[in-house]
Amino acid sequence: MKNIVILISGRGSNMQAIVDADIPGARIAAVIANRPDAAGLAWAAARGIATVGLDHKQFASREAFDERLAAEIDAFQPDLVVLAGFMRILTPAFTARYEGRMLNIHPSLLPSFPGLHTHQRAIDMGCKVAGCTVHFVTAELDHGPIVAQAVVPVLDDDTETTLASRVLQQEHRLYPEAVRRFAAGELQIRNGRIGGVDAAAAGLALQVPVL
Ligand code: GRF
Repeated sequence: MKNIVILISGRGSNMQAIVDADIPGARIAAVIANRPDAAGLAWAAARGIATVGLDHKQFASREAFDERLAAEIDAFQPDLVVLAGFMRILTPAFTARYEGRMLNIHPSLLPSFPGLHTHQRAIDMGCKVAGCTVHFVTAELDHGPIVAQAVVPVLDDDTETTLASRVLQQEHRLYPEAVRRFAAGELQIRNGRIGGVDAAAAGLALQVPVL
């Protein structure tokens, strides 16, 4: 059984999708938020999952917060740390500690549009497709070996809100599948890349309409 600790900052809909997926061989050991009032914490607590609210504003430096965060995470002995809408820049010491065992989801087709406002930037650039990416976390923001991606069309009349919601639907499908693959031992990093897009993953991608 793999222990998973999920980090959130807000509503936690990706966290909910992972919990609801009831992934074989995986146990959600805890949900931790850097905002004690994060809506997702209450949702997890109501399901009997251990929760921790650790207010980053109470810490003098990014390093001090990350050190305490790591201690809170490690108390649950995780095999995998899952960043699910965790809106913090992480220190190099923190990313090194969880190298190869920390995943993030980003709402763009990386390496395009790391950082914020991904949907508006995709619309402004006239992109015809957008999507989301699950990747292993490295010291560089929104980089790291890509595990899985899902693609959606960008429509002429899209706004940031309509595109975000189309991408979010795919996030909720993609992230549990990526965690399932980690728990099943299917994610091997070789030369900085994840190999083995299996038939199942390719089949899922082919269902996505691409213009
Ligand atoms: C998601 O779009 C995620 O990709 C981004 O922030 C959003 C978090 O949503 N980093 P939620 O908290 O999982 O509902």
